[in-house]
Order: sequence, then C-alpha cells, then structure tokens
Amino acid sequence: MSAPASPEALRVAVFASGRGTNLQALHQAASFGELPIQIVGVFSDKADSGAIAYAESQHIAHTHLDPKSFATREDFDAALMQAAAAACPELIVCAGFMRIISEAGIRAAPCPMINIHPSLLPKYPGLHTHARALAAGDVEHGASVHRVESVLDGGRILSQAKIAVLPDDSPEQLAERVLAIEHPLLIATVRAIADGRITLHDGADTRVSWLNHRLELE
Ligand code: GAR
Repeated sequence: MSAPASPEALRVAVFASGRGTNLQALHQAASFGELPIQIVGVFSDKADSGAIAYAESQHIAHTHLDPKSFATREDFDAALMQAAAAACPELIVCAGFMRIISEAGIRAAPCPMINIHPSLLPKYPGLHTHARALAAGDVEHGASVHRVESVLDGGRILSQAKIAVLPDDSPEQLAERVLAIEHPLLIATVRAIADGRITLHDGADTRVSWLNHRLELE
C-alpha cells in the first residue's frame, strides 16, 4: 500500500529506457514514506521497457515516444520535453535513459535534470563502463549522479558511491554490484535535492557527496 504523496512532495519525472530498477527503487522509497517525492510521469523511448511495464503495474502515468516517428533528434527531444512539461515536474531523473539529449532538448527541459551513470565520473563517460574499468585494471569502480548538461555525462557531479573491484570480476558481475549501490545512491541524492541539501541551480557549489556505508550523504 503506497503512502499518499504529501503536498510538499517534490514532483519528479523519470526518463528511462531499460529494466527500470532505479525507477523502482525511487518509487518504492517514496511509497514507503522514505523519500518525499511524487513520481508524476515516466517517459521512455522503448515501448517494451521494464520501466514502462513497472509504471503500468503501479498506475504511474507513463508515456512512450518512438524515436522512429521523429525526423531528427531535436524533434524527438522537443516532444519529450513537451510531454514531460505537461506533468509539471520540479526535477527530471534520467535513470537508465540510453539516449543522448541534444543541446536544444536540454535547454527546453522544464526543470533541472540529473542522471545516474555507472562509473566514477569523470572516468568512463558513455557506454561499457564496467568492461572499461576492468580493462584499465582499476581497483575501485562505482556510480555517479550528475546534473545533465550539454557535455555527455559531463555535468556537475553531485554524488558518488564506490565499490572494490574483485580480482575475478567479469563486467557482468561488476555491473550487478554497481547496480546494487546505484539504488541507495540515487535515493539519497534525490532526498538531498528534495531537502535542499544539494542545490541544482547554475553556479551552485561543486562539492561531491560520497555515499558512506550508512547510506547517508556526508
Ligand atoms: C544503470 O546501471 C544506469 O546507471 C545506466 O543504465 C542502467 C539502468 O538500469 N545508465 C547509463 O548507462 C546512462 N549512461 P535500470 O534500468 O535497471 O535502472
């Protein structure tokens, strides 16, 4: 049974392309009264994504936009931002949204946007982050939450969480352990934004919050 959203709940839109476990983590934390947000819409470029299926099962408003129906990336992004704006979000969370958003799309966003990325940025923007960390012989790896700005995975880093790389890790094993820390990292970061402990306006301070073992932000 979900807790009703309080009138002060931060209105959050989620952009997601894949399984949707980060969406699920946010939604469950909110449902258990542990995160003062209301998910006002889920937006996906993949009709058959786990994210859309989860939104449907939980009666969360959801929208699928097919990139093939738009002539250009900018057209898709404009429609995406227009659809998101209609839900009046105060924060957009990209949680496994596997599309590059154009500069025009970023400018058209109705509110600040954050993204969770499976690496210790600035290391490994882009894809295949786990394999790249292993190939480089890194002893630690992790996840970052950053503001979405025009450089791919290059916006201001808000928070990070790390794990040790084990000697026999495969990319899949490493991905699984990173995903397990992504969920509490994203919840803690969104909570800090909702509480005003992390501010997103341009020129805000650049302190990175590390998730410590008690799952709080330093
Ligand atoms: C997560 O590992 C997230 O960090 C990654 O996609 C996965 C989505 O998982 N995002 C990116 O790689 C973005 N560059 P989920 O669908 O289970 O939340």
